Parts: sequence; structure tokens; C-alpha cells
Amino acid sequence: MNTDDQTKGALGRETMQISWKVEYSLGVAEMDAEHVRMIEMMAKLESVDGRPDALRTVGKVINELVDYVEIHFKHEEDLMEKAGYPHLERHRAQHKVFAQKVLDMRSRASLDARTVHQFLQQWLGEHILKADRDYVPYVQLWLDNRGAEGGLE
Ligand SMILES: [Fe+2]
Repeated sequence: MNTDDQTKGALGRETMQISWKVEYSLGVAEMDAEHVRMIEMMAKLESVDGRPDALRTVGKVINELVDYVEIHFKHEEDLMEKAGYPHLERHRAQHKVFAQKVLDMRSRASLDARTVHQFLQQWLGEHILKADRDYVPYVQLWLDNRGAEGGLE
């Protein structure tokens, strides 16, 4: 980290906080709601970057992320399974790799907000905006066919 970065914080104080954008939406409401939570965690990381209390907050975000990943991935995988998504195992493998990386992060003594933020930014771009989009037609069709029954149970 150079001096300039230390002065203004690794993410840059002037950087706008990340917020939910319509292009992040998959059009599957329950998955979108859960992805919003991840965006909120990223915004939290941005807000503490460069502050004295950053270390503790980053630790809290990583703990939150561990719980989030377990619940969200199970939810998503259940949905793909019910919808008969043909590439479920490939998708599940990506989730497993990500979940392991989150656990690895938690086992480290300290991580800066920027590192965790970049990790989530990469997941957003490479997984949520690509791999997740691939299951959408299958899940939407399954949801449509459930009709008035509604719910994901
Ligand atoms: Fe996924």
C-alpha cells in the first residue's frame, strides 16, 4: 500500500458506495433479496475502509458472510434442484470453492476491507452476473408452473 492509499483509504474516500443496481437482478425475487444482502456487506466494507475500527468490522462481515453463504447457497441449490436445472453439480462446485475461500479468510488473523471487498466484487461479476443467470429460465419456469401455490417450499 503506498502513502497515498493510506491517506485516503484503500478503496478511496471519494468512491461512491456500492448499492443494488437493477442489472444485478436475476428476476427471481428471493434470490435477489439474498444478493442484496451481499451488496450491503460490500457497502459496509467500503464505509469502514481506512478507519481505526475497520479490523473489527471486517471480522464481523466475514462471520456474517460465513453464515450467509451457508444459507444462501443451500437455498439456491434447493431451488435449482427443484427446477431440474441441468448444470446443478457444476454450479454447486463453484459454491463449494467460494464457501471454502470464505472459511479460509475467517481463519486469517486480519484482512483489510479492500481485500474482502475485491473478493466479493469478483464473485458478483463472475458468478452472480454469469453463472446464476444461467439457472434463471429453469427456475422461472418452475415457479410459473407452481402457479397460485406460490412459495419455494
Ligand atoms: Fe450461485
